[in-house]
Amino acid sequence: MHIVYTGADWQKYWLNSLKSDKTIGLVPTMGALHEGHLDLVRKAKSETDIVVVSIFVNPTQFNNQEDYDNYPTTINEDLDKLRKENVDFVFLPKTETIYPEKPELSINFGDLENVLEGAFRPGHFNGVGIIVSKLFNIIRPHKAFFGQKDLQQTGIIKRLVKDLSMDVQLVIVPTKRENDGLAMSSRNLRLSSEERKQALILINSLEKAKQELLASKPWFEVQNHINHDFEEMPLASLEYFELIHPESFTRYSAFDAKQKSSICIAAYLGKIRLIDNLPIIP
Ligand code: PAF
Repeated sequence: MHIVYTGADWQKYWLNSLKSDKTIGLVPTMGALHEGHLDLVRKAKSETDIVVVSIFVNPTQFNNQEDYDNYPTTINEDLDKLRKENVDFVFLPKTETIYPEKPELSINFGDLENVLEGAFRPGHFNGVGIIVSKLFNIIRPHKAFFGQKDLQQTGIIKRLVKDLSMDVQLVIVPTKRENDGLAMSSRNLRLSSEERKQALILINSLEKAKQELLASKPWFEVQNHINHDFEEMPLASLEYFELIHPESFTRYSAFDAKQKSSICIAAYLGKIRLIDNLPIIP
């Protein structure tokens, strides 16, 4: 496994890959790798010839400095895990390499900025758009692999690729869950044992709401039940719980079994913010 630190380092390997006609798969990550990331890696291995995993905790996508400062980093363990998966390259740039200067550009994702993560994390998608564009420009992958847990992130990256005619195919991989259902996330590492127990409220709320909607309960009633469940959990506080169209991210005020729909949730467990989502009608 080669570790490359700059675009120039990568360039010579990239030129070789061009000569040999090999396809390149990119798995962008912020490290603190778990089985969910390794699922993306395995998918990339099965679909492309050369797999590059980037590890970079991107400062421009954090709208909360404390969250950035405390983002878990486990680089030696990450590299061991990637070696075991026979990853070909790890792109491990320094912050100054990626951002020699603060970028002047800002990307506005239109209506996606006003709902869910866009509404609650101002500037977050601008930062994601900038780093993903930089990674695509540096690595030049044929395919890039992202997890469905960050559903709205997949929506903004699809928009980026489409609106800027980027020549990369996106592959979205289903959410990997712990045995008890909690969606895998690097932030789970920061939960205390009591917060970890109460974090199950995210998946439990999604599943309960799904069952109630499919049993024809009105959406406002379902939301009331979920708000009530959160009141019973002292360490958990709900930020949003929305029924949306999974591609346009428009909010629904009522459930319609003829329309595609997913439920998205964001909640704090103590100071740790987690998100999850569940398709109702895929
Ligand atoms: O999903 C993530 O881990 C990050 O948002 C990404 C796509 C690696 C960009 O920093």
